[in-house]
Amino acid sequence: MFVHKKNKNYFHDKKLLLRIFGSVKTYWLIMCFAIALMICGAATQPALALIMKPLLDNNFSSNYNYKLSIPLILVMLAIIRSICNFLSDYLFALISNNILFNIRTDMYRKLLGSPDLYYLNIDTGKLLNKFTIDANNITNSFADVITTLIRESIIAIALLGVLFYISWLLTLIVIIILPFMFVITRFFIKKIRAISKDILNMNSELTRLVSSSIKGQRVIKLFNGYDIEKERFDFVNKSLKHFSMKAALADSALSPLVHFCIVLTLSIIIAVFLSKPSNMMLTIGDFGVFIAALAQIPDPIRKLTNAFGKLQKVLVSADSVFSLIDAEEEDDSDSIIMNYSAKGNIDFLNVKFKFSENDNPIIDNISFHIKAGEAVALVGRSGSGKTTLINMLSRFIIPDSGKILLDGFDINKMTLKALRANISFVGQDLILFNDTIISNICYGLYNISIKGVEEALKAVNLLDFVNSLPNGLYTKVGEDAVLLSSGQRQRLLIARALVKNSPIIVLDEATSSLDNESERYVQDSLEKLIYGRTTLIVAHRLSTVRKVNRIFVVDSGKIVESGSHNDLLSKKGLYSSFYNIQFGE
Ligand SMILES: Nc1ncnc2c1ncn2[C@@H]1O[C@H](COP(=O)(O)OP(=O)(O)OP(=O)(O)O)[C@@H](O)[C@H]1O
Ligand SMILES: [Mg+2]
Repeated sequence: MFVHKKNKNYFHDKKLLLRIFGSVKTYWLIMCFAIALMICGAATQPALALIMKPLLDNNFSSNYNYKLSIPLILVMLAIIRSICNFLSDYLFALISNNILFNIRTDMYRKLLGSPDLYYLNIDTGKLLNKFTIDANNITNSFADVITTLIRESIIAIALLGVLFYISWLLTLIVIIILPFMFVITRFFIKKIRAISKDILNMNSELTRLVSSSIKGQRVIKLFNGYDIEKERFDFVNKSLKHFSMKAALADSALSPLVHFCIVLTLSIIIAVFLSKPSNMMLTIGDFGVFIAALAQIPDPIRKLTNAFGKLQKVLVSADSVFSLIDAEEEDDSDSIIMNYSAKGNIDFLNVKFKFSENDNPIIDNISFHIKAGEAVALVGRSGSGKTTLINMLSRFIIPDSGKILLDGFDINKMTLKALRANISFVGQDLILFNDTIISNICYGLYNISIKGVEEALKAVNLLDFVNSLPNGLYTKVGEDAVLLSSGQRQRLLIARALVKNSPIIVLDEATSSLDNESERYVQDSLEKLIYGRTTLIVAHRLSTVRKVNRIFVVDSGKIVESGSHNDLLSKKGLYSSFYNIQFGE
């Protein structure tokens, strides 16, 4: 069905608004109370104009008591108004902070539950901004917008009521001019909405750029990248300034234009009244109140138009936040095996995978069997598909076709938790959390004794090093584990895998080269880890290849050769040529 773009946007906006209101629903009682307070506060505004009427009608000769009570009434009204506004603002802040809390929780939960591919393809700047700028935009601005819309609408309606009460004829003039204001406002709102999107995108770019400059600071310094980085930063910074100024222009132009319409109305009314005062049967007091009420109208109208501008920003941010909350999660719907302690037999049956519709297959019809306790190394050119292949065992990557079995059971039938509990994984990028050494080793594991941790550290030859640190096991490793060398990081991760003590080990050897001593320590640790466990290891080092039972040679997503090191060498095929080039023999 053809849906007009304008209508589509309208329905989309409506859906977003309903969703935001949906999250407010839980707090309806507080909301009602806050609105009631706001109505009380707002109602005091026209009252200010009305109490002056008897005074004006009697040409300031009302009785003494009435005159005396006017300042008191003014003070009382001001006190009521302040208390009502204070309480309603506070309650709205309470609601919006609770909503912000829930949105952040939902986003984070979704983030952790997202499939591997989501992380690989996401723009990190945009993702981080969803948690900071966007989430705050929704709740802070939304509370602001709601309070303004309710409070100022009530004030405007009450003031219009006063105007009608005094003279419907003069009020008609006001009402005729209102549609003009509506057209102007709509035009500016559309502009603000478009610019808000540009600002949001540029902010993501800024976050991404700054974080990559922090990570790549050594490269920038060594390769004299100051100018390149500065140029990139200048572009983003200038664009951000440009868009923000455009937004400010639209924002600032809106209020004066609306204000001008109001003043125009005011002038016309004064002109009409002055030309035909007798026909209108208005007292001086009526006219005074009318003008006093009318003079107060620009303020709520200005605030209302601003609120509509802000609402556009809220909608842009809501779109960004809800796109994360609605993103697909790792699919665990077919899983029926909740707990499983694996022996470690692994089968890949005709497994195929490609990253997207148009790409070539990365894993092209691979089948193999690994028996429990066997250690298999994958070797092959960079980009041949080794990492992709091993990531399938932990269900980080789901094959397009074919099956993967663990002890004869389809791994899709096991819950992600049950499956992953059987696998220890040491990845290519040696990720450690900015936490203590012991927390990193015991990450996600329970009931691990200090003795167990120390034994694992001893096995990877790190215990003496850890003990020499000022806080021993409780020393923090720093962001990106700066405190540790690459070899130490690998060994710490191997220690974690030892502590986890799972039947299956998946290892993607880090490609960075180690000095001979470190290399020996890492190899010793590896030997201890793979002993008696089913191991699938992407090997980049000769010393690793020699430790395994079988080698699979991966090329263009296929296993083109398999066998022991000696078998493969004597075949004089791809492995032997690799071996000669890569391992220099
Ligand atoms: N997220 C992704 N989107 C699209 N293509 C990808 C993605 N990740 C990897 N690839 C492609 O898949 C292919 C296999 O990548 P993979 O990481 O499995 O190679 P590898 O054999 O582990 O290489 P290396 O030895 O360098 O680690 C490469 O051509 C790579 O460009
Ligand atoms: Mg790899």
